[in-house]
Amino acid sequence: MVELRTRYLGLELASPLVASASPLTGSLEGLRRLEAAGAGAVVLPSLFEEQLTLEADNAGPHGYLALVDKAKATLQVPVIASLNGVTPGAWVEHASLLEEAGADALELNIYYVSSSPKVAGSEVERRYLELVRSVRQTVGIPLAVKLSPYFSSVANLTRQLVQAGADGLVLFNRFYQPDLDLDTMEVTPRLVLSTSEELRLPLRWVAILHKEVPASLAASTGVHTAADAIKALMAGADVVMMTSALLRHGPEHLRSVEAGLRDWLEDHGMQTVGHLRGMRSQRSVRDPAAWERANYITMLAGYPDQVHTEAH
Ligand SMILES: Cc1cc2nc3c(=O)[nH]c(=O)nc-3n(C[C@H](O)[C@H](O)[C@H](O)COP(=O)(O)O)c2cc1C
Repeated sequence: MVELRTRYLGLELASPLVASASPLTGSLEGLRRLEAAGAGAVVLPSLFEEQLTLEADNAGPHGYLALVDKAKATLQVPVIASLNGVTPGAWVEHASLLEEAGADALELNIYYVSSSPKVAGSEVERRYLELVRSVRQTVGIPLAVKLSPYFSSVANLTRQLVQAGADGLVLFNRFYQPDLDLDTMEVTPRLVLSTSEELRLPLRWVAILHKEVPASLAASTGVHTAADAIKALMAGADVVMMTSALLRHGPEHLRSVEAGLRDWLEDHGMQTVGHLRGMRSQRSVRDPAAWERANYITMLAGYPDQVHTEAH
């Protein structure tokens, strides 16, 4: 029997397959199904500061804290709470509440679209670091930072985030992008789930950062199949996170991903998932530039043979 046990953020997980924040993890029923289907850990939906302001008159964050509490009472797997704030004070205050409610770890979902031409990228980064430092000073539970990929130096920023106190990095969040409706000519919210193609972005960064930053790495965006999970682990992810695939096929889809992962490991003579992890990270490959720009030159040199037109 292949061993899937994994460490993430210092926590012991029975499997590297983790359910990321989504409406599925927002109900006890969804959480139960995810655990039954083999999730190694669950990340609750983010507690958004704006929601709290709306509720401020009476309810406060009670609903969310109750979910943490119920999840902890019901599940065996680690429960990671998630927070999305706007003001520094609120991040810190809510982080404490989530820790008190019993969360095993905290994911800071820094989902922020910096649209002001007056705010430099360095200033945005400074705010991120400050935020992580202040939350770190307040809570004792492990902290993960869930980032967007839109930074000019992901490697430098992630290193600084770890120095500021992050125990893990979730690479990456996937911004929901508004669309335009040509009939109504209105900006419309339109939720489009990811595809496996989108794994390439986290895959590259996981490969580059594996053992380069002293932090746990979670691959998020585009993990749909066992093949996707295997690739992310091979690049160096400690865990892979799934949302779109579970929304599309239901929590039970985790079973087939786990079965596929086990079969692959067995077929390749690997007894543990640890054998696979980081096997093809940037440090481990013969040509480290393959994860960087040289890849592009090779691709162009091989054009059009290396172009895959999607035919499925
Ligand atoms: C409907 C929906 C709700 C989500 N809610 C949250 C959330 O509350 N907090 C968060 O950090 N990410 C949230 N996400 C992002 C997912 O956790 C995940 O990072 C993203 O969907 C990319 O992974 P995927 O390709 O497996 O879907 C949400 C995604 C979807 C589709």
